Amino acid sequence: MDFLDNIVLPQSAHHMELLRGLLSITLIILIPYLSVLTGSLIFSILYLKKKKTSNNNYNYRFAKELIDLSTFNKSVAFGFGVIPFISAIFAYAQLLDKTSSYLPYYVSVAFVFFLIALLFIYTYKYAFHLKDIFNFVSTEKIQSEADESTEEEFEKYSSAANRIFKKFAGWGLLFLLIADYKLISSIQLSLNPGLWEPNPGFWSVLFSIPALVNFFNFLIVSLALTSIIVLYVYFRPNSIYKRNNDEYLSFVKQFALKSSLLFSLFVPVVIVLNILVLPTVALTNAVFLISLIAIILVLITGNYLYIMMKEGHLKYVPAATYVFILVIALIIFKNEYAFESATKKHFVVLATNYEEYSQKLKAELGGKEKTVSGEEIYKTRCMACHRFETKLVGPPHLKVLPKYEGKEDKLIKFILNPVKVDPAYPSMPNQGLKPNEAKAVADYMLKVYEEKKKK
Ligand code: HEC
Repeated sequence: MDFLDNIVLPQSAHHMELLRGLLSITLIILIPYLSVLTGSLIFSILYLKKKKTSNNNYNYRFAKELIDLSTFNKSVAFGFGVIPFISAIFAYAQLLDKTSSYLPYYVSVAFVFFLIALLFIYTYKYAFHLKDIFNFVSTEKIQSEADESTEEEFEKYSSAANRIFKKFAGWGLLFLLIADYKLISSIQLSLNPGLWEPNPGFWSVLFSIPALVNFFNFLIVSLALTSIIVLYVYFRPNSIYKRNNDEYLSFVKQFALKSSLLFSLFVPVVIVLNILVLPTVALTNAVFLISLIAIILVLITGNYLYIMMKEGHLKYVPAATYVFILVIALIIFKNEYAFESATKKHFVVLATNYEEYSQKLKAELGGKEKTVSGEEIYKTRCMACHRFETKLVGPPHLKVLPKYEGKEDKLIKFILNPVKVDPAYPSMPNQGLKPNEAKAVADYMLKVYEEKKKK
């Protein structure tokens, strides 16, 4: 189990921020991709199961086009799935280093299930195309006069292909849902540091209420997003799909409008449920604000869809799509904010660890004691909790520095031995700096303060 430990290197607070940014970007790519893959597979299977209604087998054709939607070529799976998955594992392993949390391993398990699912899904997709070839050959054959034995053999292959590809869709969906579930429950776990140590058992993570609720949320969002993407792909201005015959297009339109309206109406519920299951450490004003904006945007999307349905046109397809994609981005960003506040405390541990590590490294390299740089100490130690302009764990430094103007001694004294000052904040832990280091930081802070004051 320690292959992940080997890739982890202690990181400075600065790098940690970068990693958290990388993780956000990764999830913003990975989660919508998984949603559309899951949604289109579910719809495709449903349409495949529907009986032929008329001579025009639209159900079958739509099932095929649906799966092509999320797998239009192989690099999609690679760029939107495989690479983001690997970077997420890496980022979580770094960010949760020094906790004994198994979270990075859970994400790795999700990744393995995802890879297996991909194999099944792509086979399902190609089986469709294979079947097309069989169909093509059989219509050709009616015209030419083939002998009986080739015909029999042909039938055999054709029905074998048929059976296989239905099975593959089912297996693909099963593995994909497990991968989704593992990933979603891991993200949920990342928001709750209280659960990192001691590790909750495998089963209690698997079946925790927040994980189940969020998985349900994920499914709703997947179905809504997929339906809206179908609308966009078929009906945006100058879509190549518009060349299809009208009867088929109105078949697709009916499905896409109805199901996007239906599922997007559930999305506000999803957002509220999502807040209800967030651990209290992760609840910040930003989280509430983002959720509120997301709800308003969903209502706008719903409104567009409703108007189009009522008035029978498709003018607002691009607008509805863009607004809804913004909603998805906000939902994911909200989780990232929540993760940020959840990990604040842990970042202090990591920053301290980095400090020890780099000192050890310097000693090992036999380097001379470097002259202490106030800026460096500030960035690696203090920035875990402070910024100059904004409030983090501690107050913004520009706010507290006026009272230390011209009283550097007092500031050094506070840094060496912090005492309780403002009841609105927790106490600042002693940073264990040496006196010369404290002086260097104090110099640096007052210098920055003077510079900012001049502006
Ligand atoms: C673990 C988080 C954390 C770290 C790391 C941290 N601080 Fe603080 N700091 C706080 C908190 C919380 C407060 C508010 C304390 C209070 O008001 O009682 C604070 C307050 C302060 C204040 C204001 C004191 C006052 O008089 O209002 C200064 C100055 C300060 N910190 C400097 C530093 C410096 C310099 C470093 C780096 C060497 C540092 N802090 C590292 C959490 C931290």
